[in-house]
Amino acid sequence: MQQAPAKIILFGEHAVVYGQPAIAVPFTALHATVESRATPPGTGLTIIAGDVGQLLHVEHPLAGGEPSGNALIYAAQITLAKLKAPLPDLSLEIRSTIPVASGLGSGAAVSTALIRELSAALGSPLQGDALNALVYEVEKMHHGTPSGIDNTVIVSGAPVYFVRGQAPQPFQIGTPLTLVVADSGIQASTRESVGAVRELYEQHPDSFGGYFEEIGALVKEARRYIEAGNLKEIGQLMNRNHILLSVLTVSSPLLNRLTGAARDAGALGAKLSGGGRGGNVIALVMSSTADQVAEALRGAGAVRTWMTTVETLETA
Ligand code: MEV
Repeated sequence: MQQAPAKIILFGEHAVVYGQPAIAVPFTALHATVESRATPPGTGLTIIAGDVGQLLHVEHPLAGGEPSGNALIYAAQITLAKLKAPLPDLSLEIRSTIPVASGLGSGAAVSTALIRELSAALGSPLQGDALNALVYEVEKMHHGTPSGIDNTVIVSGAPVYFVRGQAPQPFQIGTPLTLVVADSGIQASTRESVGAVRELYEQHPDSFGGYFEEIGALVKEARRYIEAGNLKEIGQLMNRNHILLSVLTVSSPLLNRLTGAARDAGALGAKLSGGGRGGNVIALVMSSTADQVAEALRGAGAVRTWMTTVETLETA
């Protein structure tokens, strides 16, 4: 069985699509898992989306059909093509605790776990850049013009400072960050919010280009504060990032209410995270205020909350 975590964007979503830096971390409290089982000869490759009760049959990519419009089938097909493998007799069962269309990287996590498990079952486990490149291909199907940040942080499993088209830069976290993550309960398509921002950018290139640059500058500052462990300043930059995301039109009255409630309850800062217009907000808290912030978020309409601590991974 293979798995992959959810992700949280701490700073810089949307502007990252236009070449600005962004900071993202894995969110290991939620994850996707994929388990393979050998099936009788001639049964081919099937995918069972366990949580939604969906059964999918995968055609070999060289069988002559059109490329699949289904992201799960496509992920399996590009793995077979990459490994030049024949169609195996195998079932792949997917389970995920990551809410879909909520800014937590559900699509990229499922693709990552699926490609990991299928390639391992075929005897050639894909990892690192090769895995990341395949997951990115599937992300294009989900999101149209993804920056690549979701697949990169999920595949690497470590905090990343990311600039589109460049190798991700690992960085240190000076003081652990305690975050409350709150689900607005509103599903929102990243493809649509990214598409809407693109349209506005095309109509108003100077002002939107300026907002992207302002977000980029804020992300660079945030990285320095995260490395130094300056929690108060990190919180203030989260608030500023949320305002800029509202200017990009990807916040909503509910997301503004949630972030406001978190701040009023003592959070050091709060912002939407991911594509926006729904999905999740994150609040930076001291451990002493975490419970009251989570309660305030639920009181303001969040359908559920999680707590997580972001810290530098100790490598052996
Ligand atoms: C989605 O998790 C983050 C966005 O910046 C889109 C992307 O980077 O591809 C909104």
